[in-house]
Amino acid sequence: MVNEQHNLRSTYRAKRRALSQTQQQQASHDLIAQCQPLLSAGQRVAFYLANDGELDPVLLIQFCRDNNIQVYLPVLHPFSPGHLLFHAYHADTIMQANRFGIPEPVIHCQQICPLKQLDIIFTPLVAFDASGNRLGMGGGFYDRTLKPIARDGLSTRLIGLAHDCQQADNLPVQPWDIPLTKIITPTKIFCA
Ligand SMILES: Nc1ncnc2c1ncn2[C@@H]1O[C@H](COP(=O)(O)OP(=O)(O)OP(=O)(O)O)[C@@H](O)[C@H]1O
Ligand SMILES: [Mg+2]
Repeated sequence: MVNEQHNLRSTYRAKRRALSQTQQQQASHDLIAQCQPLLSAGQRVAFYLANDGELDPVLLIQFCRDNNIQVYLPVLHPFSPGHLLFHAYHADTIMQANRFGIPEPVIHCQQICPLKQLDIIFTPLVAFDASGNRLGMGGGFYDRTLKPIARDGLSTRLIGLAHDCQQADNLPVQPWDIPLTKIITPTKIFCA
């Protein structure tokens, strides 16, 4: 299983990194129309900053800001190893690189949103399948952080964002993996 996951991660990371800048920009643009029906003013929605060829939600983030939707980004939890916090992300938010080199907001406690108050969390992924299974980068960060959603019956929706080339047939599933509610690609929507 561990070897299989390692091989799947290399294969699908290489696929998304092989996309050209033009393909990435087109995908980022097409994502707005795909996600627009799910979004409305007043919602709290978490995104991510694209890394390693991930589908880039930057245009969708701008769409949200323009439409009075509150935008959040994951931040590595300073005291709880392996967990994430969700922090407000405004045009003037001060950012710093985390230990993976990914920019994240400098934490201001009053700008952290509890998981249960988020309407939607858009997650990046390495690979997905049509049943809503998600293979991430292997740190278990989302799995640990999102565990309370099913356990406590929260209404927060988990939506994976991916390029079409990240679809796998059937991913191996581990007991701790948190399944996605939906996966949205630039051309398709999969509801688990
Ligand atoms: N809820 C949890 N409690 C404790 N350990 C966990 C939990 N979820 C995941 N892990 C640990 O994290 C490691 C990585 O998990 P996994 O391979 O599923 O990562 P991933 O889903 O690819 O990563 P991510 O969630 O960051 O996208 C596993 O070895 C597992 O032991
Ligand atoms: Mg997992």
